[in-house]
Amino acid sequence: MTDWAPTWRVLVLVGLLDTCQVLLIPRTTFITGSPGRSLTHFISPGIENTTTLLLSNNGSTLYVGARDAVFSLNVGRPGIMEIRSKVDWSPAEKELQDCTRKGKSEMDCHNFVRVLQFLNATHMYACGTFAFKPTCTYINRKDFSPTGQEVGQGRCPYDPYQRNTAIAVDGALYTGTVANFMGDRHVVSRFMSHADLRLDESQGWLKDPTFVGSTFIPSEGKVYYFFRETSMEYTFINDYSISRIAQVCTSDVGGKLIMQNQWTSFAKAQLRCQADTELPFNIIQDIVTLPPPEGDNPDDTLFYGVFSSQWSMASGQSAVCSFRLGDIKKVFAGNYMKLNRNTLQWGPRHKEKVANPGECGLSNATDKLWFVKENFLAEGSVEPGDQGLTLVSPDQLYSRIAAQRTRASSGKDFTVLFLLTESGFLHKTVLLDKGPHIIEEIQVLKQPQSVKNLLLSITKGVVFVGSSEGVFEVPVSNCSFYLNCAECVLAQDPFCGWDPNRLSCVELSTISSDVAQDVEFGNVNKACKIQTDPYICICSYHGPSRKPGICAVEYGGEASLSQGIQTGGATLGVPKRQP
Ligand SMILES: *[C@@H]1O[C@H](CO)[C@@H](O)[C@H](O)[C@H]1NC(C)=O
Ligand SMILES: *[C@@H]1O[C@H](CO)[C@@H](O)[C@H](O)[C@H]1NC(C)=O
Ligand SMILES: *[C@@H]1O[C@H](CO)[C@@H](O)[C@H](O)[C@H]1NC(C)=O
Ligand SMILES: *[C@@H]1O[C@H](CO)[C@@H](O)[C@H](O)[C@H]1NC(C)=O
Ligand SMILES: *[C@@H]1O[C@H](CO)[C@@H](O)[C@H](O)[C@H]1NC(C)=O
Repeated sequence: MTDWAPTWRVLVLVGLLDTCQVLLIPRTTFITGSPGRSLTHFISPGIENTTTLLLSNNGSTLYVGARDAVFSLNVGRPGIMEIRSKVDWSPAEKELQDCTRKGKSEMDCHNFVRVLQFLNATHMYACGTFAFKPTCTYINRKDFSPTGQEVGQGRCPYDPYQRNTAIAVDGALYTGTVANFMGDRHVVSRFMSHADLRLDESQGWLKDPTFVGSTFIPSEGKVYYFFRETSMEYTFINDYSISRIAQVCTSDVGGKLIMQNQWTSFAKAQLRCQADTELPFNIIQDIVTLPPPEGDNPDDTLFYGVFSSQWSMASGQSAVCSFRLGDIKKVFAGNYMKLNRNTLQWGPRHKEKVANPGECGLSNATDKLWFVKENFLAEGSVEPGDQGLTLVSPDQLYSRIAAQRTRASSGKDFTVLFLLTESGFLHKTVLLDKGPHIIEEIQVLKQPQSVKNLLLSITKGVVFVGSSEGVFEVPVSNCSFYLNCAECVLAQDPFCGWDPNRLSCVELSTISSDVAQDVEFGNVNKACKIQTDPYICICSYHGPSRKPGICAVEYGGEASLSQGIQTGGATLGVPKRQP
């Protein structure tokens, strides 16, 4: 024991210099079945591919788009998911035969519901792949009965593995999807509105895009689309993917003399998730909108995106970047590149700027529209706000993200990200001043899933995961897992604090009095008012993530991660838990 001490001093130093930004290891791991993190799982015989999720306004009902069905789950009480209503919605025999005759596998010739939106007070709108013949229907919310069936081309993909986005705003449906059987025509459209509009790959508007999300920002009167596509501006690399944000005005009615039935307000810009000298994380996987705190400037709306890289040698497997609405607006208000319509190549603009591309209300301004048709790619790219990349993971491929802001007992707001890894773990990560800290990882899925979705219910304090393994409900925290004040504080979980009266680690949302908590530093001495030996380590690992050679060092009551030293098979630096 005594000759340990110097080693530990060194380790502690290493830990100090080489902080946790470098080593992003979840502090606690819960594999499937761990008692500390029990998940609610909805699975039912005959219901498959439960991937599309929509939550009612009061958070009590979860609507699920599945294979050949749409149903609703009662999620009003924690830990319970009960089926309430179900609509069966399958293609007819003839449609199935057509599908397989065209060479598609029986497995994919179903109706995979991929669009589910609230249209108005009484009806939902649902679209499915319908055996490679996209079809939509209205569903009455009261009695959950479908009415009518209409062509879903441009609203929903043909192939159940193609990604798409759809959002209903004021009774109109804004979509981005593949719009043909061959899978080579992509469109951005609006349906069910006073003026239906579209835009596709002709004339270089888009190039083989994959849509990953869309959001409506009321203060701007705009719908923003997020996608990746093949770059046409960087011609020195072949097939270079680039992540984009595009915008359209909800007031757009299309052109009067030219560009009839087409968006006149479409503009796009690059979303750049890249550290200065590193290779870019150029492939957007998912994005989520984090509104500003109540009453703050809407320009402070943040978009948190997860990105991967086209090159495996990039420094990490994936990254998180956040973009500020105010910065996005600046880029769209700036200069634009010019498209050579013959070569479909982009170049700098030489002529005068005669219009502001992306502007609303250009429909009568024919001269300006001629300009917009050739100048809709912003010259500037949207850079991540504040301190560059939010998170870079060297060993995880994050594919879905949810985000929330939560107030710690100190009164300070913290952003918590829920990141779903490709291997099916949920990483709950808090963004500290010194960098991200992964509070816990929870295994949700057993197999990697090509189609899945993450949905956060802030009112209920749960994350829903929709997948082909069923629907899962994961509470955002389980504070009672932490048995004493030190563990409770070391977790640095903004949802949890130590209640000195009840002598338990409790959810902050359930308590009004002061609790012991130190999200930023995890300083046990201060928060718990106890004295720990600065060189005694408190092991912080639970579960199987304790990889050889890596250990957690929490010294002097302050949490930090460090590389452990391996000696003869045993890892120095996996000390005993504090009593
Ligand atoms: C929370 O953790 C405690 C202690 O490990 C456990 O008994 C309880 O079942 C857990 N609750 C949930 C909802 O995971
Ligand atoms: C939520 O709304 C549904 C109907 O829209 C209603 O039946 C239910 O009671 C509401 N739940 C709460 C907690 O308000
Ligand atoms: C909602 O939309 C449906 C379908 O278009 C329509 O039949 C219904 O009347 C609308 N309800 C309201 C309240 O506008
Ligand atoms: C549907 O679920 C099955 C397994 O349950 C899976 O193999 C298949 O890939 C899923 N299909 C889609 C489109 O998600
Ligand atoms: C476009 O012209 C029509 C009539 O031709 C007019 O009613 C409308 O207000 C004009 N729109 C704008 C934005 O100027």
